[in-house]
Amino acid sequence: MAPLTTDGRARVLHDGSEMPLLGLGVWQVDDGRETEDAVRWALELGYRHIDTAQAYGNEESVGRALRDSGVPREEVFITTKFYPRSRSGDPVKTAEKSLRRLGVDQIDLYLVHWPENGATWAWPGMQKAVERGYAKSIGISNFNVAEIDELLADADIRPVVNQIQFGPFKYRRALLEACEQRDIVVESYSPLNSSDLDDRRIAEIAERHGRTPAQVLLRWVVQRGVPVIPKSVRRERIEENGQLFDFELSDDEMAALDSLDTTGGSDDALERKWW
Ligand SMILES: NC(=O)c1ccc[n+]([C@@H]2O[C@H](COP(=O)([O-])OP(=O)(O)OC[C@H]3O[C@@H](n4cnc5c(N)ncnc54)[C@H](OP(=O)(O)O)[C@@H]3O)[C@@H](O)[C@H]2O)c1
Repeated sequence: MAPLTTDGRARVLHDGSEMPLLGLGVWQVDDGRETEDAVRWALELGYRHIDTAQAYGNEESVGRALRDSGVPREEVFITTKFYPRSRSGDPVKTAEKSLRRLGVDQIDLYLVHWPENGATWAWPGMQKAVERGYAKSIGISNFNVAEIDELLADADIRPVVNQIQFGPFKYRRALLEACEQRDIVVESYSPLNSSDLDDRRIAEIAERHGRTPAQVLLRWVVQRGVPVIPKSVRRERIEENGQLFDFELSDDEMAALDSLDTTGGSDDALERKWW
């Protein structure tokens, strides 16, 4: 596994960038007040990583909240994602628009949102986005092992991250291992959405630690060194989801949570593609 920073709260990517293990996701959060509040609360509560996308339609509000927060730009890790159905089909042109909407000079991490129409066509444009300084790091999302290898065969800049649906119920062990072997950090999305928060085995572990089921699920992810980006539009939940670094799950508890996997340890990013 690539190293963590000394405080244990960020992952060091193969290009040297540091990616905080905890971020706020803003998928399905309305542009305007809802996104601005969520991002502002997260930054107030100590989050230093926000995950948006061109497809989410809320980059402008993310940018406004970032500026209004008073937190220095360089302290916050901003991810956005290239929308593979964009009219131009050009990661450079769409990055320029994202930068304008976000009101920043550079995106920390720019991901191909999903491998629609193939794994490789967007990558030259993604690399160009780095060469132009629009993105510091580039990566992928929803790529399975075969798609990753196709991309790597011809890549000058290797992806730093593969953002996938990942959590105890979606413990894609083979995909995680394949990514680690290739120096690609897996990042977890939908860790709560893909889980049964009422599962009694999680409740038992949560009770033992005086924590909530959501915190146990998220702790399982970060304890693997995997960055996670839970979404909430409620301040109290954003706070709850951020309290992950002051308790530890035992090996037995980690193993009990591992056994909740419903993917069979898959090397696939998804059971059903939506594109
Ligand atoms: N790359 C991709 O293709 C992709 C796909 C999906 C998601 N993502 C990213 O990953 C982020 C997270 O994934 P997600 O939004 O699908 O799901 P998630 O973060 O796993 O779960 C969000 C849901 O859980 C609820 N929730 C949040 N905290 C909770 C808590 N402490 N207790 C109980 N319920 C809680 C939220 O409701 P409230 O808001 O009402 O609290 C919301 O309904 C997204 O926002 C997005 O940034 C990326």
